[in-house]
Amino acid sequence: MVFYKACINKRVDMKRILFTIFTLLLAATSFAKEIPLVSNIYARENISLNGKWNYVVDPLENGYYGYRLEVLKNGFFKNRKAQNPQELVEYNLDTSPIMDIPSDWNTKDDQLFFYEGTVWFKKDFEVSKEAGKKYVLYFGAANYDTKVYVNGTKVGEHIGGYTPFNFDVTDEITNGNNFVVVKVDNKRHKDNVPTVNMDWWNYGGITREVMLSVLPETYLEDYFIQLPKGVTNLITGWVKLNNPLAGQTITIDIPELKIKQKLLTDTDGKAVFEIKSKPVLWTPENPKLYDVALHSENENISDKIGFRTIETKEKQILLNGQHIFLRGISIHEEAPFYQGRAWSKEHAVTLLSWAKEMGCNYVRLAHYPHNENMVREAERLGLMVWSEIPVYWTISFDREETYQNAQNQLRDMIYRDKNRAAVIIWSIANETPHGDARDKFLSRLSSFARQQDNTRLISMAMEVTEAPNNINKLDDNMNEFVDVVSFNQYLGWYRGTNESCKDMKWEVPYNKPVIISEFGGDALQGMHGPKTQRWTEEYQEELYIQNLEMLDKIEGLSGLSPWILVDFRSPRRQLPGIQDFYNRKGVISNWGIKKKAFFVMQDFYNKKKEEYKTK
Ligand code: GCU
Repeated sequence: MVFYKACINKRVDMKRILFTIFTLLLAATSFAKEIPLVSNIYARENISLNGKWNYVVDPLENGYYGYRLEVLKNGFFKNRKAQNPQELVEYNLDTSPIMDIPSDWNTKDDQLFFYEGTVWFKKDFEVSKEAGKKYVLYFGAANYDTKVYVNGTKVGEHIGGYTPFNFDVTDEITNGNNFVVVKVDNKRHKDNVPTVNMDWWNYGGITREVMLSVLPETYLEDYFIQLPKGVTNLITGWVKLNNPLAGQTITIDIPELKIKQKLLTDTDGKAVFEIKSKPVLWTPENPKLYDVALHSENENISDKIGFRTIETKEKQILLNGQHIFLRGISIHEEAPFYQGRAWSKEHAVTLLSWAKEMGCNYVRLAHYPHNENMVREAERLGLMVWSEIPVYWTISFDREETYQNAQNQLRDMIYRDKNRAAVIIWSIANETPHGDARDKFLSRLSSFARQQDNTRLISMAMEVTEAPNNINKLDDNMNEFVDVVSFNQYLGWYRGTNESCKDMKWEVPYNKPVIISEFGGDALQGMHGPKTQRWTEEYQEELYIQNLEMLDKIEGLSGLSPWILVDFRSPRRQLPGIQDFYNRKGVISNWGIKKKAFFVMQDFYNKKKEEYKTK
C-alpha cells in the first residue's frame, strides 16, 4: 500500500509500472518472439550477417523430426559436436559446405537446382554485448517456411517468402561467440500463398539480407511521414516507440523544409503530427527526396522521404493533381545476367536502369513484394511502383488460414514501404478465378489494404481471355474494390494472332482508369525469321506493334506494364533449345541482350511522353 501511495504521490505512470512487470514476466519465460518490424532497418546500428554460412541439405527433415516424427529436442538447431569418440552425432554444421548468403540455393549448388525441401543454415558471429541494449535479428526475407534458433534456442518462425521479419534475441545473445541456425523449407503446399503452381522459380533459402540490429531499450520502432491524400501543403503522420511510454520527446527534423518539430508520445508511445509545409513534390522527372531525421531520447535515425499525392478522377490517374500515363514494364525479382533471386542495390540499379532506358516512369514489381533495395532505388531513379502480394492464380480462397497468410503478407508489404513515395499501387492479386470464395477473400483484402494505408491506390491484375465476336470485355465484379482496373491479356500469344489484333474491340465498362498489367509473347534472343514464325524476335516485335496499336485505343487507358523486362526462370517452360526452363517473354534476354521488341516499347514510350507533356 505504501508503494502504491508512493507511486501515486510521485505521479509515476502506473502503465509504465505494469509494462515493466509484464516485460519481467515475459523475460522470465526466457523466450524471444517475432516482434513488429524495425522500420528502416538500414538506418540502425547493425551487425551484418551476410556472407559465408554453412548449410546442410535435409530432404527428410531428419534434423527436426525423430523417426516417429516427433519434434526433436536436440535437432540440428543445437549445433552439437561429438564430445568423445563414442558419442553419436550424425551432422556437423561447422564442416558442412559453405554458401554465400543472401542467395537462393537453387543457383548456388547444382545439386539443388530443382530441390524443394529443407536446408539448414548456420552462421557464427561475435557480439560485444552491452547492458541496456536490445538485439534484434532481422531477415529481409527467406522462402518459405523459416524457423530460427540462436545459440540452440528457438527464437521464432515465419511463413511467407517475400517479406521481412525480425526477432528480439536479447535474452539469447551472449557476449562473445554466438551462432544462429536457420531451417528453411520451400516445399509448396496447396494452402500456401502462393499455392503449388506459379510461373516463376521456387527459389529457396535465405534470399535477402540478414542483420543483427543493436538498439536502445526504447527505440523508434515505426513511423509514417507522408502527404495526406490530395493535399500538398501538409506533412502528416506519426512516430511510434517500441514501448508504450508517454511523455517521451521525439523530434522530426527536415532541414530543407525548415522543420524541427518536437512531439510528445501518448500512453501508447506514439506521437501523431500535422505540419504545415509545401515540399517540392516527388515526380519521376524530379524524384525529390528530403533528408528526414528522427531524434528520440535514446536514438537518432534518418531516412530519405519523397512527398507526392496519387489519386484517380474518373478514368484518369493524377500524380500531384496532374494527369499521367504509366509507362511501365513488369519485372520479376531475378538477378540480371546470372539469375537467381535478386536482392542487392546493384541488382536493382541494373534492372531499373534498363527500364529507364526503355522510357519507363513506372514498374510493376511482380508477383510478390520485391526487396527493399528495389523499391528504394526505384524511388531514387524516378520510377513509380506497383507492389503486389503473391495471391496468384488458384490459391485456397475458401481457407481462413490462407486468407490470414495473405493478409499478413499484405500488412508486412505496406508496413515496410509505406514511406516510399514511389509506391503508388498496392496490388492484392494476379489472375485469380472468379467465384464467391475468391470475391469474399479479395474484397476483405482490399478493405484491409485501405485500412492500412488510405493514401495509395488499390488494384489487382484481372484477365481477359476470350473475345466472342471479336469483343474483348473486362467483366470482373471485383472492379468495385479497386481504384484502377488492371488486366492481363495475351492476344497474339495465348489466343488469336498478331494479325487479329486490328479487328479487336475492347469494352471496359467501369468509370475507372485502366492499366494493361500484362501483354507479350516469347522470343529467343538471336532467333530470327519471318514475323509469322513463333519464338523469333520478329514475331515478338510484331506482337508488340499490333498490341500497342490496339490497346492504345482503349478509353481510359492510363498505363501499361508489358510482360516482361527480362527472361526469367520458370519450371513450366520445358521447350528444349528455346525455353530450357526460361520464360522467354523478356524484351531483354537473361544475358542482358535487348530484343527487337525492346525498341518498339522505347519508341512507343517516347511518343507517349511527348503526348502527356501537353496534358
Ligand atoms: C500470366 C501470369 C504471369 C506469367 C505469364 C506467362 O499472365 O500473370 O505470371 O508468367 O502470364 O504466361 O508468361
